[in-house]
Amino acid sequence: MSDPFYITTPIYYVNDAPHLGHAYTTVLADVLARFARLRGRDAFFLTGTDEHGLKVQLAAQKRNIAPQDYSDIMQAQFRSTWEKLGISYDDFIRTTQQRHVKVVQQVLNDLWQRGEIYLGGYEGWYCVHDERFWTFKDLLEGKCPDCGRPVEKVVEANYFFRMSTYQDWLIDYIKSHPDFIQPAYRRNEVLGFLRQPLADLCISRPINRLTWGIPLPFDKQFVTYVWFDALLNYITAAGYGQANSQFDQFWPQAIHLIGKDILTTHSVYWPIMLKAMNLPMPRTIFAHGWWVTHQGQKMSKSLGNAVAPLDLVDIYGVDAFRYFLMRDMTPGLDADFSEDRLAERYRYDLSNNLGNLVQRVASMSQRYFNGQLSAPGPITSDDEHLCRLFESLPERTFAQIDAYNPQQALILIMEALNDANQYLELTAPWKLAVTGQLDRTGSILYNAAEAVRIASILLWPVMPEKCYSIWQLFNWTPPQPYHYALVWGKLQPGTKLNSPSPLFPRLEMMTA
Ligand code: MSP
Repeated sequence: MSDPFYITTPIYYVNDAPHLGHAYTTVLADVLARFARLRGRDAFFLTGTDEHGLKVQLAAQKRNIAPQDYSDIMQAQFRSTWEKLGISYDDFIRTTQQRHVKVVQQVLNDLWQRGEIYLGGYEGWYCVHDERFWTFKDLLEGKCPDCGRPVEKVVEANYFFRMSTYQDWLIDYIKSHPDFIQPAYRRNEVLGFLRQPLADLCISRPINRLTWGIPLPFDKQFVTYVWFDALLNYITAAGYGQANSQFDQFWPQAIHLIGKDILTTHSVYWPIMLKAMNLPMPRTIFAHGWWVTHQGQKMSKSLGNAVAPLDLVDIYGVDAFRYFLMRDMTPGLDADFSEDRLAERYRYDLSNNLGNLVQRVASMSQRYFNGQLSAPGPITSDDEHLCRLFESLPERTFAQIDAYNPQQALILIMEALNDANQYLELTAPWKLAVTGQLDRTGSILYNAAEAVRIASILLWPVMPEKCYSIWQLFNWTPPQPYHYALVWGKLQPGTKLNSPSPLFPRLEMMTA
């Protein structure tokens, strides 16, 4: 195996239907996975569903069905949404699968036997919504400090994981691995959090309060705390504990994409769990921001302001939707969602810039050359400028992708396409054609087609369907991996182009 790449999304709670926030993380992971494949890396892309815990038990109860049946229905919704969004995951994990239950119990047994887990007494204030305990001093006016909902006081025996013993180790690890938690301001946030003494983690729930969970293998009166169960999904899917798996190759390359609301669980609990298991750390934990409404409110089902991704896909098409998600959020920061912005991106970036360029190349080739691609002629300084711009585009794009910044990558590609449109304005092949300068006309169209082809390879991770359409139009099949084709001059002169149809039809026509 060469160059393993492992990327994960959070596993989504099944008590919520997929919304824009879930779609964002999943599309981002898909784009990064596709870029890795494009560059010839051995990519493994994991997503899935988080099915245990009180929230799911209560949601199932409300509908009068068993939590397993409820999870079956809801996980199918996630899968079908991802299918419609073109998500190319390699594995979809469900925490109720046997392979996962086995790993959770194995890890618990191991930690129990080595004294990393102990039985203790517990008094805390529990927030059902966040599935988290708080101490009295954490509470804000007696309510959950995260979501503001009422909390309940709980006194009971429980099992604890000795998280506190690893606090100094974690601080050192984060400090000596600057890329571990990204962006840097999130890393500082975690280091700030770690300035307070860390408590041990309560990892059990008594079955009189919660039955829907993985039983502790050493005490059947308890089930496992949902976060302790959920985080382990990342190693289950990578093949932990399985003979002949590629766990050792993939696991240390793991990149966890998460939202900023689940930073502590991923950057504090999870590394310490792995350390206690003597496993290597993931490569990076990258926390993105939230999609918020104009009023700055986080979108979520419980706030009743969530946008259903498929409604937008029905209007704008899957690729335009994916493009918008990647283009309008600066990774790490919050972004305002507005459908008007989506429509604007569609018009200006996709229809007027990319779509227009493709249409010009294809229709002029039909008009002046009966659909045949001409050979490039002697190179002018305009041609050279264009060729240099597109030859340097892949490296510049990849640098942004390596920095988890598809937004900047798209800005670079769209700027280059804009320059290619200007190249046509400047060289005006339609004027040359009518004065009989057909060699030069053909040469210009060849160059513009090459610009489109290179851009389309780099846009493929974000807009796979539209890029396939461009390749079909050019009668061109990319090599495997695609990055071999990221050099100027791969289109064969004489190729018959197919008849064009608008890549991004006018919105008025689509909604009519
Ligand atoms: N089940 C846990 C994750 C366990 S991972 C071991 C969970 N699930 S969730 O379904 O509530 O949320 C999953 C992700 O969706 C989080 O990363 C969260 O940040 C993201 N989003 C939910 N709403 C969001 C927005 N409005 N905007 C962007 N992402 C947000 O947490």
